[in-house]
Amino acid sequence: MPRPIQARIDLSALEWNLQVARRASSARIMAVIKADAYGHGLLRAAEALNEAEGFALLDIRDAICLRDAGFGQTILLLEGFFTPDDLSLVAEYDLACVIHNQQQIDMLEAYPSRGSLEVWFKVGSGMNRLGFAPDKVHAALERLKVHPAVSGITLMTHFAQADEATGVAAQLDVFNTLVAPYRMARSLANSAALLRFPATHADWVRPGIMLYGASPFAEVSAQHLGLQPVMTLQSRIIAVQDLSAGETIGYGGLFRAEAPMRVGVVACGYADGYPRHAPTGTPVLVGDQRTRIVGRISMDMLSVDLSALPTTDVGSRVTLWGEGLPVEQVAHAAGTISYELLCALTARVPIVTFDQAR
Ligand SMILES: Cc1ncc(COP(=O)(O)O)c(C=O)c1O
Repeated sequence: MPRPIQARIDLSALEWNLQVARRASSARIMAVIKADAYGHGLLRAAEALNEAEGFALLDIRDAICLRDAGFGQTILLLEGFFTPDDLSLVAEYDLACVIHNQQQIDMLEAYPSRGSLEVWFKVGSGMNRLGFAPDKVHAALERLKVHPAVSGITLMTHFAQADEATGVAAQLDVFNTLVAPYRMARSLANSAALLRFPATHADWVRPGIMLYGASPFAEVSAQHLGLQPVMTLQSRIIAVQDLSAGETIGYGGLFRAEAPMRVGVVACGYADGYPRHAPTGTPVLVGDQRTRIVGRISMDMLSVDLSALPTTDVGSRVTLWGEGLPVEQVAHAAGTISYELLCALTARVPIVTFDQAR
């Protein structure tokens, strides 16, 4: 028997969440499936999200894998190409490329002009990560417009604070001013902008986290947004310890029982992707009942407080996040974001897919 841990992936929830995006915007949808579809599995996520008009990811090997699997949509490399060698694969597999720096244009100009390359030109509108600075945009675009291998240009930018009170106004203004002279398709919105700022929808929206059923906003729940959790990380209790007052649990003796208490040991640790820094008090479900993590997370196990759950025992089901326990709540308690928890699931956790709708 393998360890009792598993990540259950609800494919119908992926389809559902895509429809939530569809209802919120009439723009074409570029489903962001980078980082192994935020930890959910590239191909299985792409299949469930097949209605999307495009897929965005980073690794050219993943893009090729999608093409080989028969996906005919636009496939966009979000960091574009890195070496001239990449360009022949880009042409062979008909991939769209973000171009965000001069060096990429230099490479493109040095490349024999064959194929028809769809360019997504990234404007740096204030995030200062990838993208052409405002004073470089026009010259760079002029170079691309005359390149014989460039068949189309979409203008894009990415927001730094669409999920926060700051919003998108300043970046949207910079972007709109810079691209005003060009009659080209546009793409700006991540999940937060898609859900909150219709003025950013333009021609393509690029939702990621919402497709996986997590809210991009700290103060609004996924349920309130109509999203359904896709990944549920589950395991079971494999041992029960009865502690006397004053005894400690696990490495470092971080947690000390103030009174006699029952503690369950769960087959899930940081080598499965559970965050080691999750403190005592982080929420967890045993059966359907909410309780808390106690003590330090170890490589393969963690401990939960069973004091108020006398009917639980070895074999009881534990939900680390997902159905019944939003991943955002666990992330918040651990001082991180849902994205990190979902992406951090490790290869040793068996994946079980199911489709509630069928
Ligand atoms: C360029 C770009 N667009 C869209 C997204 C999707 O963002 P989110 O997962 O917040 O919807 C990302 C993710 O980081 C991104 O890097």
